[in-house]
Amino acid sequence: MSTTHESPATATATVDVDRSDPAYRSWLKEAVRKVQADANRSADTHLLRFPLPEKWGIDLYLKDESTHPTGSLKHRLARSLFLYGLCNGWIRPGKPVIEASSGSTAVSEAYFAKLIGVPFIAVMPRTTSPEKCRLIEFHGGQCHFVEDSRTMYEEAAALAERTGGHYMDQFTYAERATDWRGNNNIAESMYQQLRLERYPEPAWIVATAGTGGTSATIARYVHYMQHDTRICVADPENSCFFDGWTHHDPNATADCGSRIEGIGRPRMEPSFVPGAVDRMMKVPDAASVAAVRALETAIGRKAGGSTGTGLWSAFKIVAEMVAEERTGSVVTLICDGGERYLDKYYSDDWLAAQGLDIAPYAAAIERFLTTGPGRSEPPVEPARRVPEGEPHARRREPQRQPERGRAVGGHRPAQVGARPGGERNHSSARAVTPGCSSCPPGTRNGGPAPRPGSSPRTRSRPAAVSSSPRRPRRHGRGHGREPRRQAPHLHGDGAVDGGRGRGESGGEDEADGRGRGEVELHRRESARHGPPGDASGGSTLADGVSMA
Ligand SMILES: Cc1ncc(COP(=O)(O)O)c(C=O)c1O
Repeated sequence: MSTTHESPATATATVDVDRSDPAYRSWLKEAVRKVQADANRSADTHLLRFPLPEKWGIDLYLKDESTHPTGSLKHRLARSLFLYGLCNGWIRPGKPVIEASSGSTAVSEAYFAKLIGVPFIAVMPRTTSPEKCRLIEFHGGQCHFVEDSRTMYEEAAALAERTGGHYMDQFTYAERATDWRGNNNIAESMYQQLRLERYPEPAWIVATAGTGGTSATIARYVHYMQHDTRICVADPENSCFFDGWTHHDPNATADCGSRIEGIGRPRMEPSFVPGAVDRMMKVPDAASVAAVRALETAIGRKAGGSTGTGLWSAFKIVAEMVAEERTGSVVTLICDGGERYLDKYYSDDWLAAQGLDIAPYAAAIERFLTTGPGRSEPPVEPARRVPEGEPHARRREPQRQPERGRAVGGHRPAQVGARPGGERNHSSARAVTPGCSSCPPGTRNGGPAPRPGSSPRTRSRPAAVSSSPRRPRRHGRGHGREPRRQAPHLHGDGAVDGGRGRGESGGEDEADGRGRGEVELHRRESARHGPPGDASGGSTLADGVSMA
Protein backbone atom coordinates (compact mmCIF):
# COMPACT_ATOMS: atom_id res chain seq x y z
CA MET A 1 0.00 0.00 0.00
CA SER A 2 1.38 3.31 -0.87
CA THR A 3 0.72 6.67 0.64
CA THR A 4 0.74 9.74 -1.46
CA HIS A 5 2.19 12.90 0.04
CA GLU A 6 0.97 15.92 -1.72
CA SER A 7 3.22 18.95 -1.74
CA PRO A 8 1.61 22.10 -0.48
CA ALA A 9 0.33 24.03 -3.41
CA THR A 10 2.01 27.24 -2.34
CA ALA A 11 5.37 26.70 -0.66
CA THR A 12 6.67 29.82 1.04
CA ALA A 13 9.92 30.89 -0.52
CA THR A 14 12.84 31.92 1.67
CA VAL A 15 13.44 35.62 1.30
CA ASP A 16 17.08 36.43 1.24
CA VAL A 17 18.62 39.90 1.12
CA ASP A 18 22.39 40.00 1.20
CA ARG A 19 23.90 43.43 1.58
CA SER A 20 27.43 42.29 2.17
CA ASP A 21 29.82 44.62 0.48
CA PRO A 22 33.38 43.33 0.25
CA ALA A 23 34.79 46.77 -0.64
CA TYR A 24 33.14 48.38 2.37
CA ARG A 25 34.26 45.54 4.64
CA SER A 26 37.86 45.88 3.61
CA TRP A 27 37.62 49.68 4.17
CA LEU A 28 36.08 49.01 7.60
CA LYS A 29 38.78 46.52 8.52
CA GLU A 30 41.47 48.99 7.59
CA ALA A 31 39.77 51.87 9.43
CA VAL A 32 39.45 49.82 12.64
CA ARG A 33 43.07 48.69 12.32
CA LYS A 34 44.25 52.31 12.01
CA VAL A 35 42.35 53.39 15.12
CA GLN A 36 43.61 50.40 17.09
CA ALA A 37 47.15 50.95 15.86
CA ASP A 38 46.99 54.56 17.05
CA ALA A 39 46.08 53.29 20.53
CA ASN A 40 48.85 50.71 20.36
CA ARG A 41 51.41 53.42 19.63
CA SER A 42 50.24 55.56 22.53
CA ALA A 43 51.70 55.58 26.01
CA ASP A 44 49.57 55.84 29.12
CA THR A 45 48.95 59.26 30.62
CA HIS A 46 50.88 60.21 33.76
CA LEU A 47 49.54 60.23 37.28
CA LEU A 48 51.16 63.33 38.77
CA ARG A 49 51.37 64.23 42.45
CA PHE A 50 50.16 67.56 43.70
CA PRO A 51 52.47 68.55 46.57
CA LEU A 52 50.70 68.70 49.93
CA PRO A 53 52.24 69.12 53.38
CA GLU A 54 53.70 65.74 54.31
CA LYS A 55 52.25 65.81 57.81
CA TRP A 56 48.71 65.73 56.47
CA GLY A 57 49.16 62.12 55.38
CA ILE A 58 47.11 62.74 52.28
CA ASP A 59 48.20 62.26 48.68
CA LEU A 60 46.56 64.22 45.90
CA TYR A 61 47.05 62.99 42.35
CA LEU A 62 46.26 64.41 38.94
CA LYS A 63 45.69 62.08 36.03
CA ASP A 64 47.27 64.12 33.26
CA GLU A 65 45.02 63.69 30.27
CA SER A 66 46.57 66.63 28.47
CA THR A 67 49.37 64.38 27.18
CA HIS A 68 47.19 62.51 24.73
CA PRO A 69 48.11 63.17 21.07
CA THR A 70 45.21 65.64 20.80
CA GLY A 71 45.78 67.26 24.17
CA SER A 72 42.75 66.29 26.25
CA LEU A 73 40.79 63.51 27.93
CA LYS A 74 38.58 63.64 24.86
CA HIS A 75 41.17 61.63 22.93
CA ARG A 76 39.95 58.53 24.78
CA LEU A 77 36.33 59.35 24.05
CA ALA A 78 36.95 60.13 20.39
CA ARG A 79 38.72 56.80 19.92
CA SER A 80 35.82 54.96 21.59
CA LEU A 81 33.20 56.82 19.56
CA PHE A 82 35.00 56.11 16.29
CA LEU A 83 35.31 52.41 17.10
CA TYR A 84 31.66 52.29 18.17
CA GLY A 85 30.50 54.11 15.02
CA LEU A 86 32.67 51.99 12.76
CA CYS A 87 31.73 48.66 14.32
CA ASN A 88 28.04 49.61 14.21
CA GLY A 89 28.34 50.39 10.51
CA TRP A 90 27.44 54.04 11.12
CA ILE A 91 30.63 55.60 9.78
CA ARG A 92 30.95 55.05 6.07
CA PRO A 93 33.70 55.73 3.56
CA GLY A 94 33.52 59.22 2.03
CA LYS A 95 30.70 60.38 4.32
CA PRO A 96 31.34 63.10 6.87
CA VAL A 97 31.38 62.59 10.60
CA ILE A 98 29.65 65.48 12.34
CA GLU A 99 29.79 66.36 16.02
CA ALA A 100 28.24 68.86 18.40
CA SER A 101 31.03 69.94 20.70
CA SER A 102 32.36 72.74 22.82
CA GLY A 103 35.68 72.12 21.12
CA SER A 104 37.86 69.52 22.81
CA THR A 105 35.97 66.48 21.54
CA ALA A 106 35.95 67.98 18.08
CA VAL A 107 39.73 68.42 18.11
CA SER A 108 40.17 64.73 18.95
CA GLU A 109 37.52 63.55 16.52
CA ALA A 110 39.05 65.62 13.70
CA TYR A 111 42.26 63.72 14.40
CA PHE A 112 40.58 60.30 14.10
CA ALA A 113 38.54 61.33 11.06
CA LYS A 114 41.75 62.29 9.30
CA LEU A 115 43.34 59.03 10.41
CA ILE A 116 40.66 56.97 8.67
CA GLY A 117 40.16 59.43 5.80
CA VAL A 118 36.62 60.73 6.29
CA PRO A 119 35.56 64.42 6.35
CA PHE A 120 34.79 65.98 9.73
CA ILE A 121 32.57 68.92 10.65
CA ALA A 122 32.43 70.34 14.19
CA VAL A 123 29.25 72.19 15.20
CA MET A 124 30.28 74.49 18.03
CA PRO A 125 29.30 77.62 19.94
CA ARG A 126 30.74 80.72 18.31
CA THR A 127 32.54 81.49 21.56
CA THR A 128 34.71 78.37 21.24
CA SER A 129 38.33 79.33 21.76
CA PRO A 130 40.19 80.26 18.54
CA GLU A 131 42.95 77.86 19.52
CA LYS A 132 40.55 74.90 19.51
CA CYS A 133 39.18 76.02 16.12
CA ARG A 134 42.71 76.23 14.80
CA LEU A 135 43.44 72.70 16.03
CA ILE A 136 40.29 71.31 14.42
CA GLU A 137 41.30 72.85 11.12
CA PHE A 138 44.88 71.68 11.60
CA HIS A 139 43.54 68.12 11.71
CA GLY A 140 41.56 68.73 8.53
CA GLY A 141 38.18 69.38 10.13
CA GLN A 142 35.72 72.18 9.41
CA CYS A 143 34.18 74.48 12.02
CA HIS A 144 30.49 75.28 11.84
CA PHE A 145 29.29 77.79 14.40
CA VAL A 146 25.99 78.33 16.19
CA GLU A 147 25.16 81.44 18.17
CA ASP A 148 23.25 79.57 20.88
CA SER A 149 25.08 76.55 22.27
CA ARG A 150 21.74 74.83 22.99
CA THR A 151 21.04 74.57 19.27
CA MET A 152 24.20 72.72 18.36
CA TYR A 153 22.68 69.24 18.78
CA GLU A 154 19.89 69.73 16.30
CA GLU A 155 22.14 71.69 13.99
CA ALA A 156 24.59 68.77 13.92
CA ALA A 157 21.78 66.26 13.33
CA ALA A 158 20.36 68.37 10.49
CA LEU A 159 23.78 68.73 8.92
CA ALA A 160 24.27 64.96 9.06
CA GLU A 161 20.97 64.44 7.31
CA ARG A 162 21.72 66.95 4.59
CA THR A 163 25.16 65.50 3.90
CA GLY A 164 24.34 61.83 4.41
CA GLY A 165 26.94 61.80 7.14
CA HIS A 166 27.01 60.43 10.67
CA TYR A 167 26.17 62.59 13.69
CA MET A 168 28.50 61.14 16.30
CA ASP A 169 26.44 62.50 19.24
CA GLN A 170 28.92 62.29 22.09
CA PHE A 171 26.32 63.47 24.59
CA THR A 172 24.27 60.33 24.04
CA TYR A 173 26.93 57.76 23.25
CA ALA A 174 29.87 58.69 25.48
CA GLU A 175 28.77 56.45 28.34
CA ARG A 176 28.07 53.40 26.22
CA ALA A 177 30.86 53.68 23.66
CA THR A 178 33.46 53.50 26.43
CA ASP A 179 34.52 50.12 27.76
CA TRP A 180 33.90 50.82 31.45
CA ARG A 181 34.77 47.34 32.74
CA GLY A 182 38.43 47.75 31.82
CA ASN A 183 40.47 47.67 28.63
CA ASN A 184 42.78 50.25 30.14
CA ASN A 185 40.06 52.83 30.49
CA ILE A 186 40.89 55.93 32.51
CA ALA A 187 39.81 54.34 35.81
CA GLU A 188 41.67 51.07 35.34
CA SER A 189 44.74 53.04 34.36
CA MET A 190 44.52 55.13 37.58
CA TYR A 191 44.29 52.03 39.79
CA GLN A 192 47.20 50.40 37.98
CA GLN A 193 49.32 53.49 38.50
CA LEU A 194 48.37 53.71 42.18
CA ARG A 195 49.38 50.10 42.88
CA LEU A 196 52.70 50.95 44.55
CA GLU A 197 51.49 54.07 46.36
CA ARG A 198 50.91 54.19 50.11
CA TYR A 199 47.16 54.60 49.61
CA PRO A 200 46.47 52.63 46.42
CA GLU A 201 42.72 52.82 46.74
CA PRO A 202 41.70 56.46 46.62
CA ALA A 203 39.18 57.74 49.13
CA TRP A 204 37.73 59.94 46.43
CA ILE A 205 38.01 60.45 42.70
CA VAL A 206 36.85 63.87 41.54
CA ALA A 207 35.69 64.33 37.96
CA THR A 208 33.85 67.02 36.05
CA ALA A 209 31.06 66.54 33.56
CA GLY A 210 30.58 67.61 29.98
CA THR A 211 28.98 64.56 28.46
CA GLY A 212 29.20 62.83 31.85
CA GLY A 213 31.01 59.96 30.15
CA THR A 214 34.22 60.21 32.18
CA SER A 215 32.44 60.22 35.54
CA ALA A 216 30.19 57.36 34.38
CA THR A 217 33.16 55.27 33.29
CA ILE A 218 35.09 55.89 36.51
CA ALA A 219 32.08 55.25 38.75
CA ARG A 220 31.03 52.09 36.94
CA TYR A 221 34.56 50.71 37.05
CA VAL A 222 34.87 51.48 40.78
CA HIS A 223 31.59 49.73 41.52
CA TYR A 224 32.34 46.81 39.22
CA MET A 225 35.76 46.28 40.85
CA GLN A 226 34.17 46.64 44.32
CA HIS A 227 36.43 49.47 45.39
CA ASP A 228 35.45 51.67 48.33
CA THR A 229 36.40 54.83 46.46
CA ARG A 230 33.68 57.44 46.22
CA ILE A 231 32.96 59.56 43.18
CA CYS A 232 32.49 63.31 43.31
CA VAL A 233 31.47 65.37 40.28
CA ALA A 234 32.33 69.07 40.37
CA ASP A 235 29.99 71.27 38.38
CA PRO A 236 30.60 74.87 37.35
CA GLU A 237 28.14 77.77 37.43
CA ASN A 238 25.61 77.89 34.62
CA SER A 239 25.22 74.14 34.43
CA CYS A 240 22.18 72.07 35.30
CA PHE A 241 23.95 68.87 36.42
CA PHE A 242 24.16 69.88 40.08
CA ASP A 243 20.52 70.93 40.34
CA GLY A 244 19.34 67.97 38.28
CA TRP A 245 21.30 65.54 40.44
CA THR A 246 20.26 67.19 43.70
CA HIS A 247 16.56 67.27 42.74
CA HIS A 248 16.65 63.93 40.90
CA ASP A 249 15.31 65.88 37.97
CA PRO A 250 16.20 64.63 34.49
CA ASN A 251 14.54 67.71 33.02
CA ALA A 252 16.73 70.24 34.77
CA THR A 253 18.04 72.99 32.55
CA ALA A 254 20.35 75.96 32.77
CA ASP A 255 19.63 79.13 30.90
CA CYS A 256 23.11 80.29 30.29
CA GLY A 257 26.16 78.67 28.74
CA SER A 258 29.06 77.60 30.95
CA ARG A 259 32.19 79.69 30.74
CA ILE A 260 34.29 76.71 31.86
CA GLU A 261 34.97 75.16 28.48
CA GLY A 262 34.21 71.50 28.10
CA ILE A 263 32.02 71.16 31.20
CA GLY A 264 28.70 72.44 32.47
CA ARG A 265 25.68 71.77 30.30
CA PRO A 266 22.30 73.44 29.82
CA ARG A 267 20.46 70.11 30.03
CA MET A 268 20.91 66.74 31.74
CA GLU A 269 22.88 64.90 29.09
CA PRO A 270 21.98 61.27 28.46
CA SER A 271 25.57 60.19 29.11
CA PHE A 272 25.53 61.66 32.62
CA VAL A 273 24.68 58.75 34.96
CA PRO A 274 23.49 60.35 38.20
CA GLY A 275 22.89 57.12 40.10
CA ALA A 276 26.57 56.23 39.88
CA VAL A 277 27.71 59.49 41.49
CA ASP A 278 28.14 59.83 45.29
CA ARG A 279 28.49 63.55 45.59
CA MET A 280 28.39 66.73 43.63
CA MET A 281 29.76 70.21 44.27
CA LYS A 282 28.82 73.46 42.63
CA VAL A 283 32.04 75.37 42.14
CA PRO A 284 32.13 79.12 41.49
CA ASP A 285 33.90 79.90 38.22
CA ALA A 286 36.29 82.28 39.98
CA ALA A 287 37.32 79.38 42.26
CA SER A 288 37.97 77.18 39.20
CA VAL A 289 40.24 79.81 37.70
CA ALA A 290 42.02 80.42 41.01
CA ALA A 291 42.62 76.66 41.37
CA VAL A 292 44.00 76.26 37.88
CA ARG A 293 46.40 79.12 38.47
CA ALA A 294 47.42 77.54 41.78
CA LEU A 295 48.19 74.38 39.84
CA GLU A 296 50.74 76.23 37.77
CA THR A 297 52.34 77.64 40.90
CA ALA A 298 52.50 74.15 42.44
CA ILE A 299 53.60 71.97 39.55
CA GLY A 300 54.52 74.41 36.78
CA ARG A 301 51.75 73.32 34.43
CA LYS A 302 48.96 75.29 32.85
CA ALA A 303 45.59 73.59 32.46
CA GLY A 304 42.09 74.38 31.30
CA GLY A 305 39.26 75.69 33.47
CA SER A 306 37.63 72.29 33.99
CA THR A 307 40.82 71.07 35.67
CA GLY A 308 40.45 73.96 38.12
CA THR A 309 36.83 73.05 38.84
CA GLY A 310 37.84 69.50 39.78
CA LEU A 311 40.93 70.65 41.67
CA TRP A 312 38.96 73.11 43.82
CA SER A 313 36.61 70.28 44.82
CA ALA A 314 39.57 68.00 45.50
CA PHE A 315 41.07 70.71 47.77
CA LYS A 316 37.79 70.84 49.63
CA ILE A 317 37.79 67.07 50.13
CA VAL A 318 41.42 67.12 51.26
CA ALA A 319 40.53 69.88 53.73
CA GLU A 320 37.73 67.72 55.12
CA MET A 321 40.07 64.76 55.47
CA VAL A 322 42.67 66.84 57.29
CA ALA A 323 40.04 68.29 59.59
CA GLU A 324 38.79 64.78 60.36
CA GLU A 325 42.36 63.45 60.73
CA ARG A 326 41.87 60.98 57.95
CA THR A 327 44.69 59.82 55.75
CA GLY A 328 44.35 58.52 52.22
CA SER A 329 44.50 59.59 48.62
CA VAL A 330 42.38 61.69 46.31
CA VAL A 331 42.57 61.70 42.52
CA THR A 332 41.40 64.32 40.07
CA LEU A 333 42.21 65.07 36.43
CA ILE A 334 44.14 67.45 34.28
CA CYS A 335 41.52 67.44 31.55
CA ASP A 336 43.45 69.51 29.04
CA GLY A 337 46.35 71.90 28.80
CA GLY A 338 46.11 75.62 29.53
CA GLU A 339 47.75 76.83 26.33
CA ARG A 340 44.33 76.65 24.70
CA TYR A 341 43.01 79.21 27.14
CA LEU A 342 45.68 81.88 27.43
CA ASP A 343 43.13 84.51 26.43
CA LYS A 344 40.59 83.21 28.95
CA TYR A 345 41.57 81.72 32.28
CA TYR A 346 45.08 83.15 32.11
CA SER A 347 43.97 86.59 31.00
CA ASP A 348 43.25 89.21 33.65
CA ASP A 349 41.42 91.23 30.97
CA TRP A 350 39.07 88.34 30.37
CA LEU A 351 38.48 87.94 34.10
CA ALA A 352 37.69 91.64 34.38
CA ALA A 353 35.35 91.50 31.39
CA GLN A 354 33.56 88.58 33.03
CA GLY A 355 33.38 90.34 36.37
CA LEU A 356 35.28 87.52 38.01
CA ASP A 357 37.35 88.27 41.11
CA ILE A 358 39.59 85.30 41.81
CA ALA A 359 41.64 87.02 44.55
CA PRO A 360 39.69 85.71 47.57
CA TYR A 361 39.75 82.16 46.21
CA ALA A 362 43.43 82.38 45.34
CA ALA A 363 44.18 83.68 48.85
CA ALA A 364 42.12 80.88 50.39
CA ILE A 365 44.01 78.24 48.41
CA GLU A 366 47.37 79.74 49.25
CA ARG A 367 46.59 79.84 52.96
CA PHE A 368 45.15 76.35 52.85
CA LEU A 369 48.22 74.90 51.17
CA THR A 370 50.72 76.72 53.35
CA THR A 371 49.13 76.74 56.78
CA GLY A 372 46.50 74.01 56.43
CA PRO A 373 42.97 73.99 57.63
CA GLY A 374 43.89 73.93 61.31
CA ARG A 375 45.40 77.39 61.30
CA SER A 376 43.25 79.19 58.84
CA GLU A 377 39.83 78.48 57.67
CA PRO A 378 40.05 76.24 54.65
CA PRO A 379 37.79 76.20 51.67
CA VAL A 380 35.52 73.68 53.32
CA GLU A 381 32.03 73.33 54.65
CA PRO A 382 30.24 70.10 55.57
CA ALA A 383 28.70 68.26 52.69
CA ARG A 384 24.95 67.94 52.96
CA ARG A 385 24.17 64.31 52.55
CA VAL A 386 21.07 62.67 51.29
CA PRO A 387 19.94 60.15 53.87
CA GLU A 388 20.98 56.56 53.54
CA GLY A 389 18.51 54.46 51.64
CA GLU A 390 17.81 57.17 49.14
CA PRO A 391 19.69 55.84 46.19
CA HIS A 392 19.70 58.07 43.20
CA ALA A 393 19.45 55.05 41.01
CA ARG A 394 15.88 54.46 42.14
CA ARG A 395 14.95 57.78 40.79
CA ARG A 396 14.21 58.46 37.23
CA GLU A 397 17.29 58.98 35.19
CA PRO A 398 17.50 60.91 31.99
CA GLN A 399 15.78 59.19 29.18
CA ARG A 400 18.22 57.03 27.31
CA GLN A 401 18.30 57.10 23.64
CA PRO A 402 17.80 53.55 22.39
CA GLU A 403 20.32 51.86 20.21
CA ARG A 404 19.48 52.77 16.74
CA GLY A 405 18.69 50.03 14.30
CA ARG A 406 20.16 49.46 10.95
CA ALA A 407 18.55 51.21 8.10
CA VAL A 408 18.81 50.55 4.40
CA GLY A 409 22.35 49.67 3.48
CA GLY A 410 23.22 49.16 7.11
CA HIS A 411 23.85 52.84 7.41
CA ARG A 412 22.12 54.43 10.32
CA PRO A 413 20.06 57.36 9.17
CA ALA A 414 20.91 60.77 10.49
CA GLN A 415 18.83 61.36 13.60
CA VAL A 416 17.21 64.68 13.15
CA GLY A 417 15.33 65.68 16.24
CA ALA A 418 16.06 62.32 17.83
CA ARG A 419 17.70 63.92 20.84
CA PRO A 420 16.25 62.94 24.17
CA GLY A 421 14.69 66.14 25.20
CA GLY A 422 15.96 67.72 22.03
CA GLU A 423 12.65 69.45 21.51
CA ARG A 424 12.36 70.12 25.21
CA ASN A 425 10.16 72.89 26.30
CA HIS A 426 12.36 74.72 28.74
CA SER A 427 9.41 76.26 30.50
CA SER A 428 8.26 72.84 31.68
CA ALA A 429 11.53 72.02 33.39
CA ARG A 430 11.34 71.63 37.17
CA ALA A 431 14.85 72.53 38.19
CA VAL A 432 16.28 75.46 36.34
CA THR A 433 19.70 76.74 37.18
CA PRO A 434 19.19 80.45 37.21
CA GLY A 435 20.53 82.44 34.38
CA CYS A 436 23.34 84.72 35.26
CA SER A 437 22.28 88.25 35.87
CA SER A 438 25.59 89.59 34.69
CA CYS A 439 25.59 87.66 31.47
CA PRO A 440 24.36 89.92 28.72
CA PRO A 441 23.49 88.33 25.41
CA GLY A 442 26.44 87.43 23.27
CA THR A 443 29.06 87.81 25.95
CA ARG A 444 29.36 84.24 27.15
CA ASN A 445 29.67 80.73 25.90
CA GLY A 446 25.96 80.36 25.81
CA GLY A 447 25.43 83.05 23.23
CA PRO A 448 22.28 85.14 23.41
CA ALA A 449 19.93 84.71 26.34
CA PRO A 450 16.74 82.92 25.34
CA ARG A 451 13.72 84.96 24.47
CA PRO A 452 10.72 83.90 26.52
CA GLY A 453 8.88 81.15 24.73
CA SER A 454 11.34 80.93 21.88
CA SER A 455 12.54 77.54 20.78
CA PRO A 456 16.23 76.81 20.47
CA ARG A 457 15.58 75.82 16.90
CA THR A 458 14.48 79.29 16.00
CA ARG A 459 17.79 80.61 17.15
CA SER A 460 20.01 78.32 15.14
CA ARG A 461 21.93 79.75 12.28
CA PRO A 462 21.50 78.63 8.71
CA ALA A 463 23.53 75.57 7.96
CA ALA A 464 26.34 77.21 6.09
CA VAL A 465 29.69 75.67 6.87
CA SER A 466 32.09 78.40 7.75
CA SER A 467 35.76 77.77 7.95
CA SER A 468 36.81 80.00 10.80
CA PRO A 469 35.35 81.83 13.75
CA ARG A 470 34.24 85.38 13.33
CA ARG A 471 36.18 86.47 16.30
CA PRO A 472 38.90 85.54 17.71
CA ARG A 473 37.73 54.24 52.97
CA ARG A 474 38.59 55.85 55.22
CA HIS A 475 42.15 54.65 55.32
CA GLY A 476 42.73 54.61 59.02
CA ARG A 477 44.03 57.21 61.37
CA GLY A 478 47.40 58.69 60.91
CA HIS A 479 50.08 57.46 63.28
CA GLY A 480 51.64 59.76 65.80
CA ARG A 481 49.51 62.59 64.64
CA GLU A 482 48.97 65.82 66.42
CA PRO A 483 45.89 66.14 68.59
CA ARG A 484 42.76 66.62 66.60
CA ARG A 485 42.98 69.93 64.92
CA GLN A 486 40.40 72.56 65.21
CA ALA A 487 37.87 71.80 62.57
CA PRO A 488 36.81 74.49 60.21
CA HIS A 489 34.48 77.03 61.63
CA LEU A 490 31.41 77.18 59.52
CA HIS A 491 28.41 79.38 59.53
CA GLY A 492 24.84 79.31 58.51
CA ASP A 493 22.45 76.96 56.84
CA GLY A 494 22.58 74.25 59.46
CA ALA A 495 26.34 74.00 59.22
CA VAL A 496 28.15 73.53 62.49
CA ASP A 497 31.57 73.74 63.96
CA GLY A 498 33.34 70.45 63.70
CA GLY A 499 33.56 69.46 60.09
CA ARG A 500 30.90 67.11 58.98
CA GLY A 501 29.55 66.32 62.47
CA ARG A 502 25.87 67.08 62.62
CA GLY A 503 25.77 68.12 59.04
CA GLU A 504 26.10 64.50 58.04
CA SER A 505 22.92 63.37 59.63
CA GLY A 506 20.94 65.75 57.60
CA GLY A 507 19.44 68.97 58.78
CA GLU A 508 16.04 70.41 58.10
CA ASP A 509 16.99 71.02 54.57
CA GLU A 510 17.33 67.35 54.02
CA ALA A 511 14.20 66.22 55.76
CA ASP A 512 12.77 65.03 52.51
CA GLY A 513 16.10 63.76 51.31
CA ARG A 514 16.35 66.29 48.60
CA GLY A 515 18.23 69.13 50.23
CA ARG A 516 15.88 71.78 48.91
CA GLY A 517 17.18 74.42 51.20
CA GLU A 518 20.65 73.64 49.99
CA VAL A 519 19.62 74.06 46.43
CA GLU A 520 17.77 77.26 47.17
CA LEU A 521 20.85 78.58 48.90
CA HIS A 522 22.93 77.54 45.97
CA ARG A 523 20.55 79.26 43.64
CA ARG A 524 20.82 82.51 45.45
CA GLU A 525 24.57 82.22 45.37
CA SER A 526 24.77 81.05 41.82
CA ALA A 527 22.58 83.84 40.59
CA ARG A 528 25.28 86.16 41.82
CA HIS A 529 28.09 84.10 40.37
CA GLY A 530 29.20 82.97 43.80
CA PRO A 531 30.74 86.28 44.72
CA PRO A 532 33.05 86.57 47.65
CA GLY A 533 31.88 88.24 50.79
CA ASP A 534 28.31 87.06 50.61
CA ALA A 535 26.62 86.74 53.96
CA SER A 536 23.51 84.89 52.97
CA GLY A 537 24.64 81.54 54.35
CA GLY A 538 27.16 78.86 53.61
CA SER A 539 30.56 78.69 55.20
CA THR A 540 32.49 81.88 55.32
CA LEU A 541 36.24 81.95 55.28
CA ALA A 542 38.28 84.48 57.13
CA ASP A 543 38.53 86.53 53.99
CA GLY A 544 34.84 86.23 53.25
CA VAL A 545 34.98 83.63 50.51
CA SER A 546 31.65 81.91 50.37
CA MET A 547 31.69 78.28 49.38
CA ALA A 548 27.96 77.84 49.09
C1 LIG B 1 38.22 70.17 28.82
C2 LIG B 1 37.21 69.19 29.30
N1 LIG B 1 37.20 68.83 30.58
C3 LIG B 1 36.29 67.94 31.07
C4 LIG B 1 35.33 67.39 30.24
C5 LIG B 1 34.31 66.44 30.81
O1 LIG B 1 34.38 65.15 30.24
P1 LIG B 1 33.10 64.26 29.97
O2 LIG B 1 32.56 64.69 28.65
O3 LIG B 1 33.59 62.86 29.92
O4 LIG B 1 32.08 64.49 31.04
C6 LIG B 1 35.31 67.77 28.92
C7 LIG B 1 34.27 67.26 28.02
O5 LIG B 1 34.10 67.72 26.94
C8 LIG B 1 36.27 68.68 28.42
O6 LIG B 1 36.28 69.07 27.14
